[in-house]
Formats: sequence, C-alpha cells, structure tokens
Amino acid sequence: MTPQRPIRKPAKARDDDLAGRLLDWYDAHHRELPWRTPPRDLAAGVQPDPYRVWLSEVMLQQTTVEAVKAYFTAFTARWPTVSALAAASNDDVMKAWAGLGYYSRARNLKACADLVAAQGGTFPDTEDGLLALPGIGAYTAAAIAAIAFDRPAAVVDGNVERVVTRLRAIATPLPEAKREIRLHVEEMAPRVRPGDFAQAMMDLGATICTPKRPKCMLCPVREDCNALANGDPELYPVRPAKSEKPLRRGAAFVAVRGDGAILLRKRPDKGLLGRMTEVPGTAWTARLDGETGVEAAPFPADWRHRGSISHVFTHFSLDLTVYAAEVGEMPAPAGHFWSRPGWLNDEALPTVMKKAIEAAIPGATKRSQ
Ligand code: ADE
Repeated sequence: MTPQRPIRKPAKARDDDLAGRLLDWYDAHHRELPWRTPPRDLAAGVQPDPYRVWLSEVMLQQTTVEAVKAYFTAFTARWPTVSALAAASNDDVMKAWAGLGYYSRARNLKACADLVAAQGGTFPDTEDGLLALPGIGAYTAAAIAAIAFDRPAAVVDGNVERVVTRLRAIATPLPEAKREIRLHVEEMAPRVRPGDFAQAMMDLGATICTPKRPKCMLCPVREDCNALANGDPELYPVRPAKSEKPLRRGAAFVAVRGDGAILLRKRPDKGLLGRMTEVPGTAWTARLDGETGVEAAPFPADWRHRGSISHVFTHFSLDLTVYAAEVGEMPAPAGHFWSRPGWLNDEALPTVMKKAIEAAIPGATKRSQ
C-alpha cells in the first residue's frame, strides 16, 4: 500500500478555515462588553456606533477591559455623543478620566471630540481618515475601521500578537516581530466580518490563549497552532531580556485644613500627568540624594512623616515620601487651591496622588460626599 500523502490545502484556503472556525467560536463564546455590538445584533442589522467604538478603543489602549467597563459606562451616560463630549469642559473630562492613567489619552480624546464635532459629528470611516485624528495611532485606526465600519483592517494589539506568534511559532522577539505579525494578520483576516474577526482574536487572547497556562484544549484553532504542535505555546511571544526601570524619588506634602479641605495644585498642561491635580511636592529626581525631606515643604507647618508610597510609571518607578500637616485657616499659596471638603473624589487626581493622600489620611479618597 502506498503511504497516504497528507492533503495540504493552499495557504489562503487554510486561513479562510481558520477565520471561519474563529468566527464560529466567537458567535458562541464572545464576551458581552458594554461597548460591543454582539454578532446577533449585527446579524439583525444593528450598526455599531463609531463614537462608542472610538471611546472604548482609546480607553482600552493601555488599560484592561475590567478597568475600562465602569469608566466607559459613566462616560457614555454623561456624554452620549461625540458632540456632547465636545461640549464638556476640559476639566470635567480630566476629572472623569482620573484613575484610568496615561492622561495624554484624555487630552487627545477631548481634542479629537472637538475636531469631529466641528466637522459635523461624523467620524471618518477609513483607516487613513481616522489616523489623522488626535490620539489615534495605527492600532486604534485599524480597530475602529474594522469594528465600526466593517473595513478589512489588520488589527494587532497585545492579545493578537500573542495569538499570532503562537499560531505561526514566530521566534523573532518583540518588538522586532511586529511587521511579521502584521503580515500574518493581513493574511488571516477575512473579507467578511472583519470587525468580529478582530474582536474574536482579542477575545481568544484574553480568555483562551492567555500568557500563562493557555487553555489549548478549548481553542477553536488548536489544529492550526504551530506552537502547540511544538509542545510549548508559553514560549511565545519571545521577548528581549527586560531592563530594570530606573528609580526616582520625591516627597509629597498633604496639608489638611480643619474642615477637611486638602491643598492641591494643577500640573502643567504638557508632560507626565499633564493637567492632572496633585498635592504640592518636590520634583521627582533620579538622584538618590534628591529632596525627600521635610525641609522641602512648601511652607512651614507641623509636618509629620506618614510613610512612603511607590508607583510604577511606564519609564520609571517612583518612591514618594509622604508628609502631612494639619493647618489652620490660610489662603492657598499662589498656584494652589483648597479642595472642597468631602469632594476629593471630584478632583482629577491620578492614582499616584490618591496613594499619597491615602498614606496621609486613610480613606480620604474613598469617601463619597
Ligand atoms: N481590547 C481592545 N479593544 C478591544 C475590544 N474591542 N474588545 C475586547 N478587547 C479589546
């Protein structure tokens, strides 16, 4: 008997199968997310709202799905359209964004809403048109084009990178592998339902093809997976050796008035945490002998050491020494203001500042008015 030759389908047919299997899985197992138009609604003719797609994609750029849900719901309840968001004040948008991090996203979000509203309230429906808007890079343009406008765009986020490097056993380390990954996604993406395909890849990466202990037994494309065939999907994506983040230090001063008001100031428009609110403090320097002592206080008071907090930013880690003082009636120094007592939650406080205030006054940022 002659040995049976394996039947190899041409690459394109194999990719169509892969997309089909993935879409079938997505129909049955997609996550219900507040910004998502599920396949049953799309099939019934419901059109995704580009405003909601755009808003969710900007929020999701550096933040987890779980963290984004509540912010997305609050934003869309308060500002249901791009024109409503454009009519909001910068301050209100920054306050509503507080805690989501990467605050340049909020500034760009507002600039983008202003521009789209000024152009009649309609988002461009092509990747190129979207790329021209503030805060929209290659990934976000592709995601909006695919999800909101059914364009066959190659949508590649971290989840998709993981899925594809495993499917194709790509040994090139990230970020060098990005071009290769994109070419594979372009090859895999179907002409029909490109938005669902993109979201199916994301859901697969988030729920099945996870960084640790992927659930390969449940994977709809396990037969296509070269990493699984080779025995260890966790080897992918290959990453270069990590370098340690530099450490910076500084001090934060929490001045509390008798009525509970806290002394605050606004950070400059540009730069890290631009336009966000903070307690007064020193610069954050890499010098180990940088100012972290009480002598750096903004004015004399009975400053008490309240411990220190750590926070990790993209490019450095920060250790902040925290001091607190109870102060009497006094006008806010130039460039500072007193928070409304009991309304701290209403300020645009980034997480690092909430940590500092919590170290000084436990529970202060959690109390509702
Ligand atoms: N992450 C980024 N965009 C997403 C989306 N549309 N659905 C699920 N996860 C995502």
